[in-house]
Amino acid sequence: MPVITEPSALDALRRQDPELAEVILGETARQADGLQLIAAENFTSPAVLAALGSPLANKYAEGYPGARHHGGCEIVDVAERMAVERAKALFGAAHANVQAHSGSSAVLAAYAVLLRPGDTVLAMGLPSGGHLTHGSPANFSGRWFDFVPYGVDPESGLIDLDEVRALARAHRPKAIVCGSISYPRHIDYAAFREIADDVGAHLIADAAHPIGLVAGGAAPNPVPYADIVCATTHKVLRGPRGGMLLCGAELADRVDRAVFPFTQGGAQMHTIAAKAVAFGEASTPAFTGYAHQVVANARVLAAALEAEGFAVTTGGTDTHLVTVDPAPLGDGGSDGGGVDGRTARGRLASAGIVLDTCALPYGEGRGLRLGTAAVTTQGMGETEMARIAVLLSGVVRDAFDGRAVREEVRDLAGRFPPYPGG
Ligand SMILES: Cc1ncc(COP(=O)(O)O)c(C=O)c1O
Repeated sequence: MPVITEPSALDALRRQDPELAEVILGETARQADGLQLIAAENFTSPAVLAALGSPLANKYAEGYPGARHHGGCEIVDVAERMAVERAKALFGAAHANVQAHSGSSAVLAAYAVLLRPGDTVLAMGLPSGGHLTHGSPANFSGRWFDFVPYGVDPESGLIDLDEVRALARAHRPKAIVCGSISYPRHIDYAAFREIADDVGAHLIADAAHPIGLVAGGAAPNPVPYADIVCATTHKVLRGPRGGMLLCGAELADRVDRAVFPFTQGGAQMHTIAAKAVAFGEASTPAFTGYAHQVVANARVLAAALEAEGFAVTTGGTDTHLVTVDPAPLGDGGSDGGGVDGRTARGRLASAGIVLDTCALPYGEGRGLRLGTAAVTTQGMGETEMARIAVLLSGVVRDAFDGRAVREEVRDLAGRFPPYPGG
């Protein structure tokens, strides 16, 4: 299957709007030309792209299957029912809402169900790896709710459940949020449930990052423990950019009403169809193998980075995420200090290695956050991870010839095209 839907569609775009067609082709080439280690990204399948680029994008469909505010929804209703049933089966949930436009929209809807403005919420603090929707003053969450942050242990980098319990008892939050943008270890959902029950709080699992590993049986499932699970459908899950919510039957109607009409309008039926395709793919043994390989690759990458001198947060990983402090590598500049995450990211970008910075447990400077979802989709394995660690170290230390590294990165990526024949 060609990558950008039908070649005829691309030809038509080229004729009508060559400037924009160039942008699409340029970005497609950029993605294939380097190492994509951004932990929140992946390469969706051609089937997912086909659904996204389909005429379902034309359909207005406010409401839910069988109860729409627009006519002509009988066919897109089938797509949404398929997405819902597949998500329920994949995650063992009594109810799934697949309309949330994004992970942030899913979190907003979960808060709308369980909270009222001014309520107290306990969540991982942003400096420790919480998401913007976990209480940032720049986000609706920080403006409308009273967030109390928990952190991670500055030495181990691990969530300190005793601290979470003490804060929960002291502040009696209406809800506790577990989930992070950079925590590389499994989250103990049973322990969070127990703490929530102890203080009479709701538990919201924001599983945007691990949900794809959950689908592939490579991470614990929050569904049996959380009142509501929020997630994204991109990242390791490898679907279209979007969100979803999972919950028990008792909250089903309230979750649906919190998405539409409370926080969103019409459902995006092309994206929902693409979510159905992705859930179908994630139900296969091939995806289970993929999810486990993502974790195996991350473990090799973490160990190899440690051997190169990076300080690996929490000493390793259980997931697709690896977070490291590059400071021990030195050569941060004329003062002889350690290299900071931002400087390291810039050097790596010049070499075609694309990743993010992240917070560090001890709160000083920035670290690097890497993810193995995209490179694993490309078919890279443990040999490639070990080599990537060497390249990272050489580039961050500014010890390699930039042009030679760029060529090696290009060659490595070229051997694993994300869309063979695309
Ligand atoms: C934990 C967590 N929650 C929410 C989100 C928000 O997702 P989106 O960018 O789709 O709004 C993310 C995105 O990375 C995330 O990691």
